[in-house]
Amino acid sequence: MTPTAPLRVGLIGGGNIADSHLRGYAANSARVQVIAVADADPSTLARRVEQTGAAGYADFHALLAEAEVDAVDICLPHHLHRAAIVAAAEAGRHILCEKPLCLTAEEAVAVRAAVQAAGVTFMCAHNKLYLPAVARAKELVDSGALGEVYEVRTTDAFFNDFDPSTMGWRATAATSGGGEYMDTGYHPTYLLMHLAGARPRSVFSMMSTHRLRFMEGEDSAQVLVRFEGGAVGQIATSWAYPRVPGAERFAVMGEKGSLSSDGTTLRVALREQEAEQVYALRMRDPFEAEIADFVDRVRDGRRPLHGVQEGIDTLAIILAAYASAESGSAEEVLAL
Ligand SMILES: NC(=O)c1ccc[n+]([C@@H]2O[C@H](COP(=O)([O-])OP(=O)(O)OC[C@H]3O[C@@H](n4cnc5c(N)ncnc54)[C@H](O)[C@@H]3O)[C@@H](O)[C@H]2O)c1
Repeated sequence: MTPTAPLRVGLIGGGNIADSHLRGYAANSARVQVIAVADADPSTLARRVEQTGAAGYADFHALLAEAEVDAVDICLPHHLHRAAIVAAAEAGRHILCEKPLCLTAEEAVAVRAAVQAAGVTFMCAHNKLYLPAVARAKELVDSGALGEVYEVRTTDAFFNDFDPSTMGWRATAATSGGGEYMDTGYHPTYLLMHLAGARPRSVFSMMSTHRLRFMEGEDSAQVLVRFEGGAVGQIATSWAYPRVPGAERFAVMGEKGSLSSDGTTLRVALREQEAEQVYALRMRDPFEAEIADFVDRVRDGRRPLHGVQEGIDTLAIILAAYASAESGSAEEVLAL
């Protein structure tokens, strides 16, 4: 990697989410280029090769062995994340990886060991962190504007029209790692942790299958998280029904006031100020911002907003939530 040449990326997995990532690469094309693509499905591979002009590989091990890439972007089904991260780290490549980090505590420990041993940049593709409303909210919380954080709420719910013929690897727990909560529910979980600004300690959850009964896992989850320092988080997430019109996407309640957002507008109500402040933030494609930030972090070696440890902490909340749904009791979050 020379200081001025664009970063060379290998895209591993060219399915649905690759569309958003490729939009991010196109928007940052002076600084980063996808020069190799791996996908096990021949028609998907052919489509991505034609779209990008990149070299195509049916197997990501071949891409890592043969393509001169500085970094890889992993967009694979969940059960393949650990193998791809470990192989990429061992090949000395920087890594951007879609959520979830991987599926189990054992996998998480193996991933961290490989990334640390290789000394490469590892960034979780936690795209919601790049929503302007989230970035502004985080600045306000960290500035102490709300004082001590008491409670955080996050919501991510939509009507998912999957049916058994379109659900693919998401329908089975062995390949998805669970159900909706391991998938879409991952977003409100890392967002909750980001806004709480603390490590998770214990979790209580209730999980349901309201509508998508052909799935092995749940289609909806309600999760409570106790953080170090005492803040409490509350997550509501579903594929069975959409977010209630007008309901917030995230909210933080603190000692000096609160903030809330529908994802675009941020409202801040401080007790010492009479008027609520309303920030109508300019929307930027979070994937464009995420890819730009990944290139910056690789170039200057700064720690990503969410690196391997935040990926592990998010996964640990989710694993504790599954254990709680099973036991009916609050469960400690594994300190990994
Ligand atoms: N950030 C978001 O909002 C968001 C949205 C959707 C998906 N995702 C994440 O992106 C990842 C991929 O999800 P998707 O919806 O794009 O899935 P997908 O099934 O559409 O795409 C996965 C691709 O991986 C390929 N693949 C499977 N096994 C392979 C192997 N061994 N080697 C190379 N390629 C292989 C498949 O052929 C497929 O093209 C998941 O981790 C998912 O959670 C994130």
